[in-house]
Amino acid sequence: MRRYGYYPLNRSGMNSEIMNTTCTVELAQRAYPIVIGTGLLDQAGTHVRACGISGRVLVVSDETVHPLYGARLRDALEREELGVTELTVPVGESSKCHTQLLRIYDAALAAGLERASTIIALGGGVVGDLAGYAAATYLRGIRYVQVPTSLLAMVDSAVGGKTGVNLPQGKNLIGAFHQPTAVLADLSVLETLSPREFAAGLAEVIKYGVIVDPDVLSLLEQADPDALQRQPDTLRDVVQRSCAIKAEVVRRDEREGGLRAILNFGHTLGHALEQVCGYGEWLHGEAIAIGMVYAARLSQRVHGFSTAESERLIAVLQRHRLPVHAPAVSWPALLEALQRDKKKKAGTVGFVLARALGQVDYGCAVAETDLHAVWEEDMPRS
Ligand code: GLY
Repeated sequence: MRRYGYYPLNRSGMNSEIMNTTCTVELAQRAYPIVIGTGLLDQAGTHVRACGISGRVLVVSDETVHPLYGARLRDALEREELGVTELTVPVGESSKCHTQLLRIYDAALAAGLERASTIIALGGGVVGDLAGYAAATYLRGIRYVQVPTSLLAMVDSAVGGKTGVNLPQGKNLIGAFHQPTAVLADLSVLETLSPREFAAGLAEVIKYGVIVDPDVLSLLEQADPDALQRQPDTLRDVVQRSCAIKAEVVRRDEREGGLRAILNFGHTLGHALEQVCGYGEWLHGEAIAIGMVYAARLSQRVHGFSTAESERLIAVLQRHRLPVHAPAVSWPALLEALQRDKKKKAGTVGFVLARALGQVDYGCAVAETDLHAVWEEDMPRS
């Protein structure tokens, strides 16, 4: 099994200060800033105070991230006279469950969190979704702040207010839309992310290049894959462009009534692969990389997308060491998983397909014969 992991802290890495940048998710009275830069962990108290947060906060983290960054966050919050309590959950997807949710409620009650209190999620997507859902439901909803520590969380899961936990029957079956009060994306924490986890986050960045802004692809075509993880200037541009795209999509369709579905480009097959191969075999971003290749090939066959554009997508995925080859799974198992996809509507699987780079359509019905043919004939094999 390939595991989620962090490398030991290497202080010789990203130490240069850069100008921080902020993009806003414009949702009227629920608007919030995404602050992107370096040094934010140590300035977290000031940033959350600026958003009107005071009183008690519960920091939820995991057993890998907390030893690395918990103390710095705690110090920063206490310097601003916030009353901090901390809770850690085990690492990995299995923590997105009701057992850990109940632990958060218990800790919140024991610490005396009230309606005006705040939960702070310090971690990757699992911690963000879990802590966000706890915040959405505790006392009918309290504030929360996302302090994402993985690239994937910075560019995707920490932004947009999707929170939730899994059930034994499937992922994200319980959840709520609950927007954070702020997102603090401190790029310097990415230096301890394993290169594999970092690359998995880039898959979601590449997705933005396909669905909205091909300049994102150009940026990654020029970026040095060996150096990017420690280049705060380039990373700031990558994260800022990604968050700006996500913020605009969420502004236009907060609750996924339509347009927000474009964020699922590559996810229909990606989710099916995760189910069939077993969660843990592929990181989410890796499954999405293969899913995007499939969606691109499908778009070529039925939606007028060009071969050259598919090849460009594959090349940028490979440049950043993401998988693009179809794994050896049986088509009937994959089809069954595709059909179980919770986003299926009225019996058809709604695909997001590209017409050109930067132009996609959602809710596209595709005949089963085409789905099968693309899997067998058009996917690169290793
Ligand atoms: N990650 C997809 C969404 O936030 O809608």
